[in-house]
Amino acid sequence: MGRLNNKVAVVTGSATGIGAATVKLYAKEGATVVCADVNENDVQKTVDEVIQAGGQAEAYSLDVSKEESVSAFADYLKDKYGKIDILFNNAGIDQEGGKVHEYPVELFDRIIAVDLRGTFLTSKFLIPLMMDQGGSIINTSSMSGRAADLDRLRV
Ligand SMILES: NC(=O)c1ccc[n+]([C@@H]2O[C@H](COP(=O)([O-])OP(=O)(O)OC[C@H]3O[C@@H](n4cnc5c(N)ncnc54)[C@H](O)[C@@H]3O)[C@@H](O)[C@H]2O)c1
Repeated sequence: MGRLNNKVAVVTGSATGIGAATVKLYAKEGATVVCADVNENDVQKTVDEVIQAGGQAEAYSLDVSKEESVSAFADYLKDKYGKIDILFNNAGIDQEGGKVHEYPVELFDRIIAVDLRGTFLTSKFLIPLMMDQGGSIINTSSMSGRAADLDRLRV
């Protein structure tokens, strides 16, 4: 028996890295995992690996920064599963932008749109799918959110 049998888990940013590794662990524990990412090719690879290992997963093309994309995703999940049990908000952009006075405004806007707005949007639209039975929301963060990274900040 896996610890996540009969659970439906959504993992955003699951094409690579932490998200892909989490998908494999959740599937090994028995969850059906919906792997949502803008990177359609690599997210399909994550799904293929899970299925080859005997787990259950599917890929969904999602842009967490776009309200209409997240809203349509919530409708899809409701129609297909009726509920979700786990939402792992992991989609993010981890790109070095330099010191504040040199930092590109476009990159700042993109990171806020994906990391912050995206986490809000997926939570807003997917929480109703957890309300009847309860569930867990996990948000990926960073050590840089807990303490200043002096190498990056020093001018
Ligand atoms: N790896 C680290 O050292 C580290 C440190 C601090 C924070 N983080 C954060 O952890 C998370 C995962 O990091 P990772 O190292 O696995 O990086 P990663 O780049 O391998 O994974 C991020 C995933 O998010 C996806 N993504 C990007 N924009 C998206 C969007 N608009 N909609 C949906 N998906 C989108 C990417 O396609 C990718 O699959 C990120 O949020 C990152 O900022 C990572």
